[in-house]
Amino acid sequence: MQKNKLIDSFGRSLYYLRLSVTDKCQFSCSYCRGVESAFLPKRELLTFEEILRMSQILKKMGTKKIRITGGEPLLRHDIDELLKNLHALGINTALTTNGLILKNMIPKMVNVLNSVNISLDAIEPETFEIISGMPKAFHKIIIDSIIVTKKSGIPVKLNTVVIEENEKELVDLVDFAGALSIPIRFIEYMKVEQSKRYSVPIDIVKEKIAKARGLIKMKEKFGDGPAQYYKTNDGAVVGFIAYSSPHFCDACNRLRLTPDGKLRLCLILGGELDLKCMLRNGFSDEKIEHKISEFVKLKPFSHGNRQILEKKMNSIGG
Ligand code: 5AD
Ligand code: SF4
Repeated sequence: MQKNKLIDSFGRSLYYLRLSVTDKCQFSCSYCRGVESAFLPKRELLTFEEILRMSQILKKMGTKKIRITGGEPLLRHDIDELLKNLHALGINTALTTNGLILKNMIPKMVNVLNSVNISLDAIEPETFEIISGMPKAFHKIIIDSIIVTKKSGIPVKLNTVVIEENEKELVDLVDFAGALSIPIRFIEYMKVEQSKRYSVPIDIVKEKIAKARGLIKMKEKFGDGPAQYYKTNDGAVVGFIAYSSPHFCDACNRLRLTPDGKLRLCLILGGELDLKCMLRNGFSDEKIEHKISEFVKLKPFSHGNRQILEKKMNSIGG
């Protein structure tokens, strides 16, 4: 058996890689990238071969699960092939998507995806339009994608970032998800440098839902993330993710690879290892492995009080 080389200095196994394959996105969600951002030039993105090589190296070192994120990962033309190849490596493959072009891709993904998270920030198409900057008619397309994914049998979860604009729709979102038997997670908005909006504390969100539908803490976990799960009186499964919670980092199992090939130890704190540079300068697998195993020892225990991201979320992958 291979030795797990992705253990940090606190003994945590960093077996879960969040792999952002592009910073591009059709949406301009106000809490994520906003409207004024340029995307990375294509040459800066890791190529298909580079992503696969990195995944093989990391798999050998201890990666068991890869969540493909973006931007919007389905905008990469080689996404099917990528998922197929990652799955063939024996890695648990998951995807986070905005759902806009997901529906027609589901048949190809059924056999290569272990789970999908779809963003749904609103029940009202008008609210969707305000948050995402996309025409309100597109809201129905996303709802259809959610239903088709659920029907395909791929385990699916919904993600809602809580901001002022959707605060009044949270209970409706729970009812919608509950009716489809899909877990929904409310994610605390993390302030990004470009838009320091008002963040709705997750305890207020929890209180609001508990009051309207009841909430009982569950023992089960859905996935490998930091969400805490509850069940409503109607049986809807609701998760809460709070970056500012003191325990958010305790059991961190994550590494992140940005679309331009930088390995990150923490979403919030800086500190990146430039793997693209190594890949493009003839480093052997062994040398890259060595650099990574030294780097993971530098993972901080927690992000402490720092809660503002210095980069846009779509350039890291959430
Ligand atoms: N705060 C919290 N979550 C965010 N996401 C994007 N921007 C933010 C932010 N500022 C989430 C989206 C999506 C994932 C890619 O990242 O909801 O689920
Ligand atoms: Fe795109 Fe997702 Fe960011 Fe919205 S949150 S702009 S859908 S990457």
